[in-house]
Amino acid sequence: MKYAYASKTGNVEKIIKKLGLEALKIVDGTEKIDGDYVIFTYTCGKGKTPKPVLTFLENNPNVKAVVGSGSNSKSHIETFNFGAENIGRDYNVPVLAKLNGVGTDEDIELIKTELAKL
Ligand SMILES: Cc1cc2nc3c(=O)[nH]c(=O)nc-3n(C[C@H](O)[C@H](O)[C@H](O)COP(=O)(O)O)c2cc1C
Repeated sequence: MKYAYASKTGNVEKIIKKLGLEALKIVDGTEKIDGDYVIFTYTCGKGKTPKPVLTFLENNPNVKAVVGSGSNSKSHIETFNFGAENIGRDYNVPVLAKLNGVGTDEDIELIKTELAKL
């Protein structure tokens, strides 16, 4: 399994580091990945999936699962991790985890368990 991620302010990148994964960084969405992969994304706007992530998904059809990082603060609670949820719905893939920011150690363990099942 391969991994790709987008991170604007560093939280998703920290998650990738905590997991010890080698992953492709999505910058503008024109990047290419061969074979099956899991995508890690943040949420922007009001529950939006970042544009580079949407472009990347269009260019790389073999997404198998998604992991999200969002914010459960008052201003975002109603669209908590919708960036990841949108992908789950539109590509019919499981959302393995929805973290608040960098998440907790338990979240990281849960993601490891879920990734191992793929
Ligand atoms: C302008 C803006 C809008 C956001 N909107 C949402 C949102 O609708 N839902 C959510 O769960 N998180 C939202 N967030 C929070 C980010 O998704 C969250 O901080 C995430 O951990 C950022 O990941 P990154 O540091 O890798 O870029 C928003 C953050 C910003 C700055």
